[in-house]
Amino acid sequence: MKKDKHGVNLFELQRKYNFDVDEVMDFSSNVNPIGPSKKALQYLRENLDQASVYPDPEYVDLLKEISNYTHANPEHILLGSGTTNLIKDFIHYVNPKRALLNSPCYSEYENELNLIGSEVFHYNLDYHRNFTVSVDEVIEIIQKNSIELYVITNPNNPTGTILNRVDIERIVEATNIPILIDETYIEFTDRSVYSCSAFAATNPNIFVVRSTSKFFATPGIRLGYAITSNQKVLDSMGKNFSLWGINIFAEMMGKVMFSDETYKAVTYNHIQREKDKMISALETVEQLKVFPSYGNFVLVKIKDRSATAKELREFLLPRKIVIRDCSNFKNLDERFFRFCILSKEANDLLIQGVYEFFGK
Ligand SMILES: Cc1ncc(COP(=O)(O)O)c(C=O)c1O
Repeated sequence: MKKDKHGVNLFELQRKYNFDVDEVMDFSSNVNPIGPSKKALQYLRENLDQASVYPDPEYVDLLKEISNYTHANPEHILLGSGTTNLIKDFIHYVNPKRALLNSPCYSEYENELNLIGSEVFHYNLDYHRNFTVSVDEVIEIIQKNSIELYVITNPNNPTGTILNRVDIERIVEATNIPILIDETYIEFTDRSVYSCSAFAATNPNIFVVRSTSKFFATPGIRLGYAITSNQKVLDSMGKNFSLWGINIFAEMMGKVMFSDETYKAVTYNHIQREKDKMISALETVEQLKVFPSYGNFVLVKIKDRSATAKELREFLLPRKIVIRDCSNFKNLDERFFRFCILSKEANDLLIQGVYEFFGK
């Protein structure tokens, strides 16, 4: 079994502290607190007996829904059992000798690159520059080191930074190498400005991956998709896609949730409003530096040596509040932590807990 290196393992907490999983305020997993679309859940409940039916092996309706949602050609869409699987399959397909990652970033890219023996280069994002990416620096690193794959997480986890489409286009045009763009958190921003899904239709070097785990709050169903117009990638990854690789419950929810406009608007507005509130509240704590974020999560640095993220995490745990200690991210240290946006009530409890810890 894969060990958890990501957000909290709620089941482990349950075993260790006897917490009820439902009572834990999990600020570490970046999942939309509103939960899945009610319309999708209702459809699922009404059709639970479909457990005895094989899903459509062509996933025609699901692909049509994703196509309507992303404006991508259904033939340019690949389905995956979670984004993590699509990331793995694409990295194995490209099989780069040398790959470039922005650091810090989500850990699974490097894990997969290590498995196939790629040399991994890190473009170290500097916290003095709020972790922003310099397009010129990236192009130079790619060209100097003959990089064969560049990964952009947009917005980036855990820094919350983003590259706009014009900047990405500049990198793509200057380097002409495969670029994996992980848009797991793109719905928390203005997709019309930042998403590269339309760019993927015209440039075969672009491979966009999208998750349903975070914005649509469905990590349990393991549904992700990718968009590319690269026919070789589509053929190869399509051929390797397991027959009935998406289970019928994921298929059902996918057929409903992408077009639930009220749900999408409510989620977006809740996250923006609460994120602004939390950033303003934590900025008043003298010991903290709070970084701006385009995601549904916020990275924070404890500025002085008075405490570590681990100590803050442990202080909050008995209150059933779980934050992400970011010390195991490359290019961060024991003084960085990340939290995501939950319900108004839970967010207020986190602010209160942080204030108490820092004596405010
Ligand atoms: C940037 C990024 N990509 C992908 C994933 C995993 O997504 P999925 O649940 O679709 O495999 C995560 C999960 O934390 C993530 O942060």
